[in-house]
Amino acid sequence: MSVQIKSPQDIEHLRVAGRLAAELLDYITPFVEPGITTNELDRLCHDYMVNVQHTIPAPLNYAPGGHTPYPKSICTSVNQQICHGVPNEKPLKRGDIVNIDVTVIKDGWHGDSSRMFCVGETSSHAKRLCDITWQAMWHGIAKVRPGATLGDIGHAIQTFVEENGYSVVREFCGHGIGRKFHEEPQVLHYGRAGAGLTLQPGMVFTIEPMVNAGRRDIRQLADGWSIVTRDRSLSAQWEHMLTVTESGYEVLTVSDATPTPPPGFANTST
Ligand code: MF3
Ligand code: CO
Ligand code: CO
Repeated sequence: MSVQIKSPQDIEHLRVAGRLAAELLDYITPFVEPGITTNELDRLCHDYMVNVQHTIPAPLNYAPGGHTPYPKSICTSVNQQICHGVPNEKPLKRGDIVNIDVTVIKDGWHGDSSRMFCVGETSSHAKRLCDITWQAMWHGIAKVRPGATLGDIGHAIQTFVEENGYSVVREFCGHGIGRKFHEEPQVLHYGRAGAGLTLQPGMVFTIEPMVNAGRRDIRQLADGWSIVTRDRSLSAQWEHMLTVTESGYEVLTVSDATPTPPPGFANTST
Protein backbone atom coordinates (compact mmCIF):
# COMPACT_ATOMS: atom_id res chain seq x y z
CA MET A 1 0.00 0.00 0.00
CA SER A 2 1.22 3.49 -0.78
CA VAL A 3 0.01 7.05 -0.90
CA GLN A 4 -2.13 7.86 -3.92
CA ILE A 5 -1.43 10.91 -6.02
CA LYS A 6 -4.73 12.50 -7.04
CA SER A 7 -5.25 13.86 -10.57
CA PRO A 8 -6.48 17.44 -11.18
CA GLN A 9 -9.94 15.97 -11.87
CA ASP A 10 -9.87 14.00 -8.59
CA ILE A 11 -8.89 17.19 -6.75
CA GLU A 12 -11.76 19.10 -8.31
CA HIS A 13 -14.14 16.44 -6.87
CA LEU A 14 -12.44 16.77 -3.47
CA ARG A 15 -12.71 20.59 -3.67
CA VAL A 16 -16.47 20.23 -4.15
CA ALA A 17 -16.80 17.71 -1.28
CA GLY A 18 -14.57 19.84 0.94
CA ARG A 19 -16.64 22.95 0.33
CA LEU A 20 -19.83 21.03 1.14
CA ALA A 21 -18.34 19.85 4.46
CA ALA A 22 -17.41 23.46 5.30
CA GLU A 23 -20.88 24.69 4.27
CA LEU A 24 -22.46 22.07 6.53
CA LEU A 25 -20.44 23.46 9.46
CA ASP A 26 -21.58 26.98 8.47
CA TYR A 27 -25.19 25.75 8.41
CA ILE A 28 -25.09 24.20 11.89
CA THR A 29 -23.24 27.11 13.57
CA PRO A 30 -26.27 29.23 14.63
CA PHE A 31 -27.92 26.16 16.20
CA VAL A 32 -25.07 25.53 18.64
CA GLU A 33 -26.69 27.26 21.63
CA PRO A 34 -27.47 26.30 25.23
CA GLY A 35 -30.38 23.83 25.44
CA ILE A 36 -29.99 22.05 22.09
CA THR A 37 -29.11 18.36 22.29
CA THR A 38 -26.35 16.84 20.20
CA ASN A 39 -29.00 14.47 18.79
CA GLU A 40 -30.81 17.53 17.42
CA LEU A 41 -27.55 18.80 15.87
CA ASP A 42 -27.10 15.34 14.34
CA ARG A 43 -30.61 15.32 12.90
CA LEU A 44 -30.27 18.85 11.48
CA CYS A 45 -26.97 17.95 9.82
CA HIS A 46 -28.29 14.63 8.57
CA ASP A 47 -31.32 16.26 6.96
CA TYR A 48 -29.21 19.07 5.44
CA MET A 49 -26.78 16.55 3.93
CA VAL A 50 -29.43 14.25 2.52
CA ASN A 51 -32.14 16.73 1.48
CA VAL A 52 -30.27 19.96 0.66
CA GLN A 53 -26.73 18.97 -0.33
CA HIS A 54 -27.57 15.55 -1.72
CA THR A 55 -24.51 14.22 0.08
CA ILE A 56 -24.11 11.02 2.09
CA PRO A 57 -23.08 11.24 5.78
CA ALA A 58 -19.88 9.17 5.82
CA PRO A 59 -19.91 8.44 9.58
CA LEU A 60 -23.33 6.73 9.58
CA ASN A 61 -22.74 2.98 9.90
CA TYR A 62 -19.00 3.47 9.35
CA ALA A 63 -17.35 0.34 10.77
CA PRO A 64 -13.56 0.20 10.38
CA GLY A 65 -11.96 -3.04 11.57
CA GLY A 66 -13.08 -4.09 15.01
CA HIS A 67 -15.56 -1.25 15.60
CA THR A 68 -19.30 -1.51 15.98
CA PRO A 69 -20.95 0.54 13.19
CA TYR A 70 -21.00 4.26 14.10
CA PRO A 71 -24.65 5.05 14.88
CA LYS A 72 -24.91 8.75 13.89
CA SER A 73 -24.24 11.11 10.97
CA ILE A 74 -21.80 13.48 12.73
CA CYS A 75 -19.43 13.40 15.69
CA THR A 76 -20.03 15.80 18.60
CA SER A 77 -17.26 15.83 21.22
CA VAL A 78 -18.14 17.91 24.28
CA ASN A 79 -15.67 19.25 26.91
CA GLN A 80 -13.45 16.33 28.04
CA GLN A 81 -14.43 14.29 24.96
CA ILE A 82 -11.47 14.21 22.57
CA CYS A 83 -13.11 12.81 19.43
CA HIS A 84 -15.81 10.49 18.04
CA GLY A 85 -18.34 11.74 20.59
CA VAL A 86 -21.66 10.08 19.76
CA PRO A 87 -24.62 12.51 19.71
CA ASN A 88 -27.12 11.93 22.52
CA GLU A 89 -30.13 13.40 24.35
CA LYS A 90 -28.15 15.59 26.76
CA PRO A 91 -28.66 19.33 26.16
CA LEU A 92 -25.61 21.54 25.70
CA LYS A 93 -25.17 24.06 28.48
CA ARG A 94 -23.66 27.53 28.68
CA GLY A 95 -19.87 27.27 28.96
CA ASP A 96 -19.52 23.94 27.13
CA ILE A 97 -17.06 23.60 24.25
CA VAL A 98 -18.00 21.19 21.48
CA ASN A 99 -16.20 19.88 18.42
CA ILE A 100 -18.48 19.11 15.49
CA ASP A 101 -16.79 16.82 12.96
CA VAL A 102 -18.57 16.27 9.65
CA THR A 103 -17.70 14.12 6.67
CA VAL A 104 -19.82 14.23 3.52
CA ILE A 105 -19.62 12.02 0.44
CA LYS A 106 -20.38 13.73 -2.89
CA ASP A 107 -20.21 11.74 -6.11
CA GLY A 108 -18.10 9.15 -4.26
CA TRP A 109 -15.57 11.67 -2.86
CA HIS A 110 -15.14 12.57 0.82
CA GLY A 111 -14.98 16.01 2.44
CA ASP A 112 -13.90 16.00 6.11
CA SER A 113 -13.67 18.99 8.47
CA SER A 114 -14.30 19.95 12.08
CA ARG A 115 -14.48 23.10 14.16
CA MET A 116 -14.81 24.02 17.83
CA PHE A 117 -17.88 25.87 19.10
CA CYS A 118 -18.31 27.73 22.38
CA VAL A 119 -21.81 27.31 23.82
CA GLY A 120 -22.88 30.74 25.07
CA GLU A 121 -20.45 32.50 27.37
CA THR A 122 -17.37 30.28 27.90
CA SER A 123 -14.46 30.52 30.36
CA SER A 124 -11.28 32.19 29.12
CA HIS A 125 -9.26 28.99 29.67
CA ALA A 126 -11.65 26.99 27.46
CA LYS A 127 -11.52 29.70 24.79
CA ARG A 128 -7.72 29.73 24.94
CA LEU A 129 -7.61 25.93 24.46
CA CYS A 130 -9.81 26.21 21.35
CA ASP A 131 -7.72 29.08 19.99
CA ILE A 132 -4.34 27.41 20.58
CA THR A 133 -5.63 24.21 18.94
CA TRP A 134 -6.80 26.20 15.91
CA GLN A 135 -3.44 27.93 15.64
CA ALA A 136 -1.68 24.56 16.07
CA MET A 137 -3.58 23.19 13.05
CA TRP A 138 -2.42 26.22 11.05
CA HIS A 139 1.20 25.77 12.12
CA GLY A 140 0.95 22.24 10.67
CA ILE A 141 -0.77 23.38 7.45
CA ALA A 142 1.89 26.04 6.88
CA LYS A 143 4.57 23.33 6.59
CA VAL A 144 2.88 21.65 3.62
CA ARG A 145 4.79 21.90 0.34
CA PRO A 146 6.55 19.47 -2.02
CA GLY A 147 9.76 18.24 -0.40
CA ALA A 148 8.60 18.81 3.19
CA THR A 149 7.92 15.70 5.29
CA LEU A 150 5.07 14.49 7.46
CA GLY A 151 7.45 14.85 10.42
CA ASP A 152 7.73 18.59 9.69
CA ILE A 153 3.95 18.89 10.14
CA GLY A 154 3.83 16.88 13.35
CA HIS A 155 6.84 18.66 14.80
CA ALA A 156 5.38 22.12 14.13
CA ILE A 157 2.10 21.18 15.80
CA GLN A 158 3.66 19.47 18.82
CA THR A 159 6.15 22.28 19.44
CA PHE A 160 3.48 24.97 19.33
CA VAL A 161 1.07 23.04 21.56
CA GLU A 162 3.68 22.16 24.19
CA GLU A 163 5.10 25.72 24.24
CA ASN A 164 1.62 26.80 25.18
CA GLY A 165 1.37 24.30 28.05
CA TYR A 166 -0.95 21.73 26.48
CA SER A 167 -0.51 18.14 25.22
CA VAL A 168 -1.07 16.41 21.87
CA VAL A 169 -3.13 13.21 21.68
CA ARG A 170 -1.04 10.43 20.08
CA GLU A 171 -3.59 7.68 19.36
CA PHE A 172 -5.45 9.49 16.57
CA CYS A 173 -4.08 11.24 13.53
CA GLY A 174 -4.88 12.96 10.27
CA HIS A 175 -5.23 10.74 7.21
CA GLY A 176 -5.19 10.48 3.46
CA ILE A 177 -8.69 10.83 2.00
CA GLY A 178 -10.39 10.48 -1.36
CA ARG A 179 -12.85 7.84 -2.50
CA LYS A 180 -12.02 6.23 0.85
CA PHE A 181 -12.75 7.97 4.20
CA HIS A 182 -9.39 6.96 5.71
CA GLU A 183 -6.42 6.00 3.56
CA GLU A 184 -2.66 6.37 3.67
CA PRO A 185 -0.75 8.28 4.87
CA GLN A 186 -1.23 8.64 8.63
CA VAL A 187 -0.57 12.26 9.53
CA LEU A 188 0.73 12.32 13.13
CA HIS A 189 0.35 15.55 15.09
CA TYR A 190 3.71 15.08 16.82
CA GLY A 191 7.16 14.07 15.57
CA ARG A 192 10.58 15.03 14.39
CA ALA A 193 11.33 17.61 11.70
CA GLY A 194 12.60 15.93 8.53
CA ALA A 195 11.31 12.49 9.49
CA GLY A 196 8.77 10.42 7.60
CA LEU A 197 7.20 10.53 4.16
CA THR A 198 8.18 13.30 1.73
CA LEU A 199 5.21 15.28 0.40
CA GLN A 200 4.43 15.41 -3.32
CA PRO A 201 1.95 17.45 -5.38
CA GLY A 202 -1.43 15.69 -5.62
CA MET A 203 -1.39 14.17 -2.16
CA VAL A 204 -4.61 14.89 -0.24
CA PHE A 205 -4.88 14.47 3.54
CA THR A 206 -6.35 15.96 6.68
CA ILE A 207 -4.62 17.74 9.55
CA GLU A 208 -6.76 17.43 12.69
CA PRO A 209 -4.83 17.90 15.95
CA MET A 210 -6.49 16.88 19.22
CA VAL A 211 -5.13 18.95 22.10
CA ASN A 212 -5.71 18.33 25.81
CA ALA A 213 -5.52 21.01 28.49
CA GLY A 214 -4.02 18.40 30.84
CA ARG A 215 -2.22 15.13 30.17
CA ARG A 216 -2.34 13.45 26.75
CA ASP A 217 -3.66 10.08 28.01
CA ILE A 218 -7.01 8.87 26.69
CA ARG A 219 -9.82 6.51 27.68
CA GLN A 220 -12.55 4.95 25.51
CA LEU A 221 -16.15 5.00 26.75
CA ALA A 222 -18.35 1.91 26.85
CA ASP A 223 -20.22 3.02 23.70
CA GLY A 224 -17.16 1.74 21.79
CA TRP A 225 -16.57 5.12 20.11
CA SER A 226 -16.31 8.18 22.38
CA ILE A 227 -12.75 9.00 23.44
CA VAL A 228 -12.22 11.15 26.56
CA THR A 229 -9.23 12.53 28.44
CA ARG A 230 -8.09 10.16 31.18
CA ASP A 231 -7.58 13.08 33.59
CA ARG A 232 -10.95 14.61 32.60
CA SER A 233 -9.30 17.82 31.39
CA LEU A 234 -10.85 19.70 28.47
CA SER A 235 -9.90 18.74 24.91
CA ALA A 236 -10.21 20.57 21.58
CA GLN A 237 -9.79 19.68 17.89
CA TRP A 238 -9.89 21.42 14.51
CA GLU A 239 -9.71 19.72 11.13
CA HIS A 240 -9.04 20.80 7.56
CA MET A 241 -8.53 18.70 4.42
CA LEU A 242 -5.87 19.92 2.02
CA THR A 243 -3.89 19.06 -1.07
CA VAL A 244 -0.20 19.50 -1.77
CA THR A 245 0.24 21.83 -4.77
CA GLU A 246 3.32 22.51 -6.92
CA SER A 247 4.14 25.51 -4.74
CA GLY A 248 2.68 24.61 -1.33
CA TYR A 249 -0.86 23.71 -0.35
CA GLU A 250 -4.53 24.43 -0.95
CA VAL A 251 -7.06 23.99 1.87
CA LEU A 252 -10.09 22.20 0.38
CA THR A 253 -12.58 22.54 3.27
CA VAL A 254 -13.29 26.22 2.69
CA SER A 255 -16.63 28.04 2.47
CA ASP A 256 -17.73 31.68 2.68
CA ALA A 257 -17.99 31.53 6.50
CA THR A 258 -14.96 29.34 7.30
CA PRO A 259 -12.95 31.15 9.98
CA THR A 260 -10.26 33.22 8.23
CA PRO A 261 -6.78 31.90 9.00
CA PRO A 262 -4.71 33.57 11.74
CA PRO A 263 -2.55 36.56 10.75
CA GLY A 264 0.33 35.41 8.54
CA PHE A 265 -1.49 32.23 7.37
CA ALA A 266 -3.65 31.68 4.27
CA ASN A 267 -6.02 29.09 2.79
CA THR A 268 -3.73 28.73 -0.23
CA SER A 269 0.02 29.18 -0.20
CA THR A 270 1.95 30.60 -3.09
N1 MF3 B 1 -14.34 12.47 10.90
C1 MF3 B 1 -13.42 11.71 11.69
C2 MF3 B 1 -12.05 12.01 11.14
O1 MF3 B 1 -11.73 13.14 11.04
C3 MF3 B 1 -13.72 10.26 11.68
C4 MF3 B 1 -14.99 9.91 12.31
S1 MF3 B 1 -15.25 8.23 12.18
C5 MF3 B 1 -16.77 8.02 12.90
O2 MF3 B 1 -11.30 11.18 10.71
F1 MF3 B 1 -17.14 6.83 12.58
F2 MF3 B 1 -16.65 8.23 14.20
F3 MF3 B 1 -17.59 8.92 12.40
CO1 CO C 1 -13.29 14.50 10.64
CO1 CO D 1 -10.48 13.24 9.40
